[in-house]
Amino acid sequence: MFKINDNYLKLPGSYLFSTIARKVSAFQEANPDKQIIRLGIGDVTQPLAPAVIDALHAAVDEMAHAETFRGYAPDLGYDFLRNAIADHDYRQRGVDIAADEIFVSDGAKSDSGNIGDIFSVDNKIAVCDPVYPVYVDTNAMAGRTGDYIEDKQSWSNVIYMPCTAETNFAPQLPKETPDIIYLCFPNNPTGSAITKNELQAWVDYANKNGSVIIYDAAYEAYISEKDVPHTVYECEGARTCAIELRSFSKNAGFTGVRLGFTVIPKDLKCGGVMLHSLWARRHGTKFNGAPYIVQRAGEAVYSEEGQKQTNEQIAYYMNNAKTILTGLKEAGYTVSGGVNAPYIWLKTPDNMTSWEFFDHLLEHANVVGTPGSGFGPSGEGYFRLTAFGSYENTVAAIDRIKKM
Ligand SMILES: Cc1ncc(COP(=O)(O)O)c(C=O)c1O
Repeated sequence: MFKINDNYLKLPGSYLFSTIARKVSAFQEANPDKQIIRLGIGDVTQPLAPAVIDALHAAVDEMAHAETFRGYAPDLGYDFLRNAIADHDYRQRGVDIAADEIFVSDGAKSDSGNIGDIFSVDNKIAVCDPVYPVYVDTNAMAGRTGDYIEDKQSWSNVIYMPCTAETNFAPQLPKETPDIIYLCFPNNPTGSAITKNELQAWVDYANKNGSVIIYDAAYEAYISEKDVPHTVYECEGARTCAIELRSFSKNAGFTGVRLGFTVIPKDLKCGGVMLHSLWARRHGTKFNGAPYIVQRAGEAVYSEEGQKQTNEQIAYYMNNAKTILTGLKEAGYTVSGGVNAPYIWLKTPDNMTSWEFFDHLLEHANVVGTPGSGFGPSGEGYFRLTAFGSYENTVAAIDRIKKM
């Protein structure tokens, strides 16, 4: 008789976005004349940059001719893309990462979930709270998180690092030493960032304690402040303790195209074993490479035109972020984020719970956001708005909130 992986049965239902969708459609049905504005989901809305579209078309044409047709891609990625990444994202920032330390993938969600394959089930993880839910859920699937405690909305064997106004939305070094530390900066959902010195303290901590940092830099392109690091490898010693995850989703609008990469320096070892070798083995066995066409599109992001055009898209979203941030401040809300990230995190007024504020906003402003409690227990009393809508909708949403 076969047996299932019953760790899956321990997972609480993923009610956040389905509950939001249900509430929004019930409201729309009851109020068919109301124009709802959605600032809830973290998906981009701008079309792909012309340089990316041109590269996609050219690569598709190559596939039409026997001389230029490509089959399976190299497991770890085409050299043209790995070299462009190493040069642009690392070498030009004075950071020492070689092209063969870069593993091209279909996105940061899969990588952040799959990376657990190369670690023992006995490792204890630490996560920020609130947090992008994939880190915890995938560790729960692997059997690393203990049991789910319903009334605490947390797992028995996970170290939660609260990131609230009291901690300036940054995690504090935990009392209990974790084996694997997930950090994501600029952060989803709080929109906060940490300085290079703050990140250096984590790198020093990990090296001292034999922990590994999994650093999710999916929102790196949104950094506007000088002392915020673009990569964990700006920190001294990160090559021996950190893995970095990157995505083309938010810097170039690839959410539907799918492309990302993971960096594992060859100096990162457990005993004598390089994690680089384990991930290469895992990638080679379980992944057959991101599509050639998509990797060419990724390469085009790094071209002069591609950089100019994608930077304009980021500036467009960050102008929305500024509109939300200043508008909400004028309306008397306590807000953070929105400076180095496309997310604005607000304290719910009058001690409303996150879900009470969700209903209030939907009812009175016809605006949809995301309740902070959906990202972890310390998200209670907070609310996330995203800058990924159109400028017109963003302005209209803020006008309505001001009039509430
Ligand atoms: C922190 C974080 N990491 C990773 C991802 C997923 O990125 P990708 O689209 O590359 O899978 C997201 C998407 O919202 C995210 O917020």
